[in-house]
Amino acid sequence: MHVLVTGGAGYIGSHTVLLLLEEGHTVSVLDNFSNSSPESIRRVEKISGQSVATYKLDLLDRERLIDLFGQLRPDAVIHFAGLKAVGESVAEPLRYYRNNVAGTLNLLDGMMSTNCKKLVFSSSATVYGDSNKLPLSETTERSATNPYGRTKLHIEEMLEELGISDPDWSIANLRYFNPVGAHESGLIGEDPQGIPNNLMPYVAQVAIGKREQVNVFGADYATSDGTGVRDYIHVLDLAAGHLAALEYLSIQRGVNAWNLGTGHGTSVLEVIEAFSRVSGQEVAYQVVERRPGDVAECYANPEKAMLDLGWKAERGLEQMVEDMWRWQVKNPDGFLN
Ligand code: WQD
Repeated sequence: MHVLVTGGAGYIGSHTVLLLLEEGHTVSVLDNFSNSSPESIRRVEKISGQSVATYKLDLLDRERLIDLFGQLRPDAVIHFAGLKAVGESVAEPLRYYRNNVAGTLNLLDGMMSTNCKKLVFSSSATVYGDSNKLPLSETTERSATNPYGRTKLHIEEMLEELGISDPDWSIANLRYFNPVGAHESGLIGEDPQGIPNNLMPYVAQVAIGKREQVNVFGADYATSDGTGVRDYIHVLDLAAGHLAALEYLSIQRGVNAWNLGTGHGTSVLEVIEAFSRVSGQEVAYQVVERRPGDVAECYANPEKAMLDLGWKAERGLEQMVEDMWRWQVKNPDGFLN
């Protein structure tokens, strides 16, 4: 199948592109490189031994986007491109709506212009808001607690209504929990710009000596050790979930949502301890105030993806940390080095 991957140079995008190539698909990547590097695609080509047609394009450039669709005529689209920093979205809500929602509308116009109606959408567990009904299943009530989460929720709802208006669409809304880790080669991985918002890349930078200590955002939650609990999932398991969803779309029409999580919760202190053990480095930390907007616990009920897609996460915390650490050691400055 010829698959167009938006945001294919990003962290999850690049790992998914690699798996698509390894499964024999033809891949075209569309990326504006606002939060990614063309180097990640070059490394995917090195690992796979295959070339990837890559187009520097912003989804807000509607005319060029529709021209590109006419040129490429993909069979399916996997849509990763989007802004994803919660805190930034609170400061710049309109930029998030324009980029994420309007960008997706342009993408759908491009798809319809060539009658391409298979779409895998990069959604997020953030659409469950601060639900405390754990484990989270796909029928858990959705809500948004920040503009980023609201863009994901709006796009899911837009896609649901598109599917009602035209039953020829096959759409998968994939709700990620906490993606971490890297390809075992250490050639591609998470390359956050500036100070990492997320826990794992921050811990990795402390372990390698780039940052002084981890600020643990609160140790007074009603959890096993008082720190926040999340469902960390290896990025290669996440990528495999996209291929399983793509396969499902090639035989089923309609709009569906699936959680991509392990179903297990891990605390902040457990992550820090695992990193110290795997890296052999002391990971210093201090407990500070809770981060506004954080929930105590968030983890998936992953059963639906197993039932419908025959997919489940295979890699545990140890491998997530080992693979993340190898990437960090080999690329102390990400793709810049
Ligand atoms: C994990 C835990 C923090 C950093 C976010 C987005 C979500 C999704 C994944 C896009 C929490 C604690 C963190 C630090 C800490 N992104 N923490 N010190 O907040 O669960 O999810 O990323 O879809 O939408 O919200 O991930 O890695 O930021 O936090 O103590 O320096 O680590 O309090 O308990 P989160 P995270």
